[in-house]
Amino acid sequence: MLSFFKRLFRVWGNEVAVDLGTAYTLIYVKGQGIVLNEPSVVAVDQATGKVLAVGYEAKRMLGKTHKGILAKRPMKDGVITDFEMVQEMLYTFLSKTISKHLWANPRTLIAVPSAVTEVELRAVRDSAESAGSREVLLVAEPVAAAVGIGIDIDEPAGHMIVDVGGGTTEIAVISLSGIVTDTSIRVAGDEMDEAIIQFIRDHYRVEVGQQTAEQIKIEIGNVFPLEETRRMEVRGRDLVSGAPKTIEVNSDEIREALKPVVYQIIDAVKRALERTPPELVADIIDRGIYLSGGGSQLRGFAALLREETNLAVNVVENPVECVALGAGKILEEIDRYRKVLIQPRSQVTTR
Ligand SMILES: Nc1ncnc2c1ncn2[C@@H]1O[C@H](COP(=O)(O)OP(=O)(O)OP(=O)(O)O)[C@@H](O)[C@H]1O
Ligand SMILES: [Mg+2]
Repeated sequence: MLSFFKRLFRVWGNEVAVDLGTAYTLIYVKGQGIVLNEPSVVAVDQATGKVLAVGYEAKRMLGKTHKGILAKRPMKDGVITDFEMVQEMLYTFLSKTISKHLWANPRTLIAVPSAVTEVELRAVRDSAESAGSREVLLVAEPVAAAVGIGIDIDEPAGHMIVDVGGGTTEIAVISLSGIVTDTSIRVAGDEMDEAIIQFIRDHYRVEVGQQTAEQIKIEIGNVFPLEETRRMEVRGRDLVSGAPKTIEVNSDEIREALKPVVYQIIDAVKRALERTPPELVADIIDRGIYLSGGGSQLRGFAALLREETNLAVNVVENPVECVALGAGKILEEIDRYRKVLIQPRSQVTTR
């Protein structure tokens, strides 16, 4: 029986690519495309340790749970902070997607931040294995993003990818299928949310949750003055009285709150350009910077990056999906792309 199934899977090529992001996890099934895109959140019953929900269902619980339930993000700053939770999450996501397309120890390609340590890599690999993967392949996130954007990464020319995610901003220059320079800073969308929380705490003495902060960022966040100042009502908890309180914030103050975070990202791009060999900089001048990741959608961010670097900035078509799409394409054409995979036990940058 088992061997019958095994044969069947071999024929149908049971292979998946995963963009294991701090904020969102996307799964691409070979031959099908992206089949899952859910928040990287897990809800656990603290008494029993049982996982109650993952993904959207768990995100709805985040910050709203009673004492007995813990809803949290098992990854922070692009790396795994809770190994067991990531395992559960991957397992649930994989079984959710694969059961419809035959669940049987798939070959799994996972996109990881380029600056992960050897220990973090092992944690990702182990998670995927214990989630039922028969073979785990790894690729650096910016390389997957580049392939997803449609860049010909074999070309002997420099391409700069800037991916602003939830936990990390990855800045990589890719040429001849390899990463020539890469900078990974643990500053991205989450830090923007944090800056908003901090601002509201300092100026209104009100505490708002992470989800509220994210909503504010998406609705009225900006880096250049908007034509008309926008306002938004938000609810939080008065830090003095402890009572619920509704306040109004506007797009001008949110811009000021976000500025330091946005400039940390822009400064990192400038530093990366300084470290890039001149020949490749010339290519980047010709082609422009490729901007991807959910965090790059902050209003005006692309324009500010253009202004600050004096380079053209290409906003990619699928900023949130391109890593998963690229990882999927690598799976589809594994022979062509095998050389871009992270080799097991190879020397991985640690910093
Ligand atoms: N319109 C928007 N404006 C600003 N930020 C946004 C917008 N839409 C999504 N985001 C932010 O994008 C971030 C998530 O991006 P993405 O899905 O690329 O991250 P990720 O891949 O999960 O994280 P990482 O790559 O760091 O592990 C979140 O911080 C989210 O709030
Ligand atoms: Mg990402």
